[in-house]
Amino acid sequence: MSKPKVLISRRWPATVEAKLQELFDTTLNSDDHPMSADEFRTALQNYDAVCPSVCDALPAEVLNVANKRCRILGNFGVGYNHIDIAAAREQGLIVTNTPGVLTESTADIAMTLLLMTARRGAEGDRLVRSGRWRGWCPTHMMSSDVTGATLGLVGFGRIAQAMARKAHHGFGMKILYVKPSPADPEIVTNLQAVRCETIEELLPQCDYVSLHCPGGADTRHLINERRLNLMKPSAHLINTARGDVVDSKALIRVLREKRIAGAGLDVYEGEPNIDPGFLELENAALLPHLGSATIATRTAMGEKVLANLQAFFAGQALPDRVV
Ligand code: DGY
Repeated sequence: MSKPKVLISRRWPATVEAKLQELFDTTLNSDDHPMSADEFRTALQNYDAVCPSVCDALPAEVLNVANKRCRILGNFGVGYNHIDIAAAREQGLIVTNTPGVLTESTADIAMTLLLMTARRGAEGDRLVRSGRWRGWCPTHMMSSDVTGATLGLVGFGRIAQAMARKAHHGFGMKILYVKPSPADPEIVTNLQAVRCETIEELLPQCDYVSLHCPGGADTRHLINERRLNLMKPSAHLINTARGDVVDSKALIRVLREKRIAGAGLDVYEGEPNIDPGFLELENAALLPHLGSATIATRTAMGEKVLANLQAFFAGQALPDRVV
């Protein structure tokens, strides 16, 4: 029997690519270019499984292509707001994702950004490289304390809880969170976490606010100018979730006018395009969507996609089925 035909949209760690090639008739994107809508349409017509990444857009106009051969989208990533899930469902396409394996590395990047923005790390690096540093001085580049400060988490899923653990047990931070329903009492007790009923209640109490909700229509511009204005002028915003959760234009204004102290961002609206306003801000620490970018994590993500495809082609229950 011939092997199922599988296409992966971007290059993956070599060990996982090798396993995929062993198990399936696998096509790699040899020059790792971002695939166009037309390339995805052709892929959906010619492969049994297509594996997109979080950087690929799969709207209804692409998924609705006629004469599809593809039956499963094995998404390389936990977030799937780049796939029109309703259209996938309508088209009878199964979608899987990679939850769990990127929790710690993404929480590490959230802590990295928290520390960078609090202690002006990116700004300090730029100063040293520019050759303009004139030496230690008692009032130079003073910044905000992290230890003992209050961290507010918007969303309290796996990644937020991992960040809370690092922040609370590592830095003695006080944890507040907002989530529609109360979290697991054991986790709450371990973190001494306090639940806020609303974002409005949480924001004014925090020194740091970190976003951990999915992207997409339901959370678009959840953090808007009105809410940013509720934060303390000394507070910092961290976003490792999705760019569109924050109104970028509003955040740029608020940072420029120092209505909040700083921001640490790993994700952007319209990524990889970044609003040029961010680039001019000294008080924004900017990373290129590095949340899951460790060798071990990206390998584990690939292994998860592989496990889902194997289960699918063996007619078994899928470990990480979204639709
Ligand atoms: C995901 O998997 O959704 C992440 O954004 C990738 O780092």
